[in-house]
Amino acid sequence: MRIVVLTGAGISAESGVPTFRDADGLWDGHRVEDVATPEGFEANPDLVLRFYDERRRGVASVVPNAAHSALARLEEAIGDDLLVVTQNVDDLHERAGSQNLVHMHGELRRALCTACGARPEWTADLIDRPPCPACGERKLRPDVVWFGEMPYDLDRIEQAVIACDVFVSVGTSGAVYPAAGYVALASAFGARTVELNLVPSDAIVPFDDVRPGPATEVVPRWADEVISAL
Ligand code: OAD
Repeated sequence: MRIVVLTGAGISAESGVPTFRDADGLWDGHRVEDVATPEGFEANPDLVLRFYDERRRGVASVVPNAAHSALARLEEAIGDDLLVVTQNVDDLHERAGSQNLVHMHGELRRALCTACGARPEWTADLIDRPPCPACGERKLRPDVVWFGEMPYDLDRIEQAVIACDVFVSVGTSGAVYPAAGYVALASAFGARTVELNLVPSDAIVPFDDVRPGPATEVVPRWADEVISAL
């Protein structure tokens, strides 16, 4: 049985990583256009570099929760038949043990060189304009996909969504495309669709199975069900 699990900010919420769409519509006090667009970066690079430096440090001080661990356990049980596609830029899935994992919106722990295109692993701050390890230019930015930019690995993700038997969405509001369209694609190709979210999202097609609740409860319960049915 092939399973694709799409995760969003909700899976990391109980680890202490804030979600994007708070009641005030701000991301940690900033307008999304200021900190998550190429135009915002061009207008105020210091603000944007500092913002992601803070996020990177923040994520380094939190730990994966029971939902991340449950997905890693499921991968141990079914191997490459599970693909986790995350919109999150934190590294909590890999720290929990997931390996067959795609970061479609990039990673805080990677930098992107706008001079040569290198994507080195990066754990330090970027605000001081360190040189790119590949080309030496001081043109590194966070390797995070901003609005108006192309997410990573779309071909691989779409092929997996089309081929899967079960598509599961965890802790994502379904507000940002192309990720928000994967449930419709999976459904059109015959997959069973499951939503695990604190509150049901505004999906464009209804999920076959909706299980409301905090990720640390609903994800382990679902994963254990799948494992015990193997
Ligand atoms: P959002 O902030 O839009 O949505 C968070 C979702 O998590 C909501 O559906 C909540 O109901 C749910 N949630 C919150 N706490 C939860 C919990 N404890 N357990 C389970 N679910 C919980 O975040 P995303 O959908 O991930 O893109 O946002 C998608 C993209 O928009 C992000 O990747 C980012 C952002 O702008 C880019 O940066 C390109």
